[in-house]
Amino acid sequence: MALYDTIGRTYAQTRSSDPRIAAKLLEILMSRQASTIVDIGAGTGSYALVLAEHGYRVLAVEPSATMQSQVIAHPAIEWIEGYAENLPLFNQSADAAIIMLALHHFQNYQQALYEVHRVTGGGQIVLFTYDPAMISEFWLTKYFPSFVKDIESTFLPIPQLAAVIQAVTGMRVSVVPFPLPQDLSDAFAAVGWARPELYFNSIVRHGISSFAKITDEELQQGLSSLREDLEMGVWEQKYGQLRQLKEYDVGYRFLYTIAAS
Ligand SMILES: C[S@@+](CC[C@H](N)C(=O)[O-])C[C@H]1O[C@@H](n2cnc3c(N)ncnc32)[C@H](O)[C@@H]1O
Repeated sequence: MALYDTIGRTYAQTRSSDPRIAAKLLEILMSRQASTIVDIGAGTGSYALVLAEHGYRVLAVEPSATMQSQVIAHPAIEWIEGYAENLPLFNQSADAAIIMLALHHFQNYQQALYEVHRVTGGGQIVLFTYDPAMISEFWLTKYFPSFVKDIESTFLPIPQLAAVIQAVTGMRVSVVPFPLPQDLSDAFAAVGWARPELYFNSIVRHGISSFAKITDEELQQGLSSLREDLEMGVWEQKYGQLRQLKEYDVGYRFLYTIAAS
């Protein structure tokens, strides 16, 4: 059974596309002429839907039936059950690929990248991912310390990831930091960087895979220390300046290939 069949039951309730992330994705894709885009690990299709609404044809590849049961149908999106490591698609089926916060879940990311390169026929590959070198700086890990190990063992260091993409595709890779807006609408792990109260919402936590991996003891302990720190003004004293910022670089990155001109 795919991991997201168990942890993804309420995913669509909290993980809608964020318009700022979507705008950046569209901007990157528009710099190349693509009409069919394959979305690998498409989840509940929130970014596939944005692409479809902007005139792209989308091949959305997703292994989890639970995730697919939550999609909003669109005539320009074709849903395909499958895994990134063995894409059920012909060579050059798409002009470009997107992988949004999904590569760290793949069993074999290198094989997946070869597959993506094959089905895009050397077209552009765009990834949205996280820089694990940044995790220990994020205040949330003071309450949930095992997040550090989890993130460091699941996300590839950015220079290593860029080098692998370059080796697989033969294309240069651009890395662009993506500071998160304070009112981020796609509630992934750092959604509450300036809104700690969000982590008390169990539906928000259910949409975040790192929370699915911690023990109940660590969860209860972390939540009660966070609650206490908020009530006593300790959180405000240590991190409250974050509430004044409109955006903050927690460590999210766009990586995309650039064809030789
Ligand atoms: C965090 S979700 C991201 C979903 C979507 N891209 C988004 O941004 O909302 C990760 C997705 O990757 C999928 N996934 C996990 N392993 C996969 C694999 N080997 N091949 C393709 N997708 C996979 C999961 O089922 C899940 O839907």
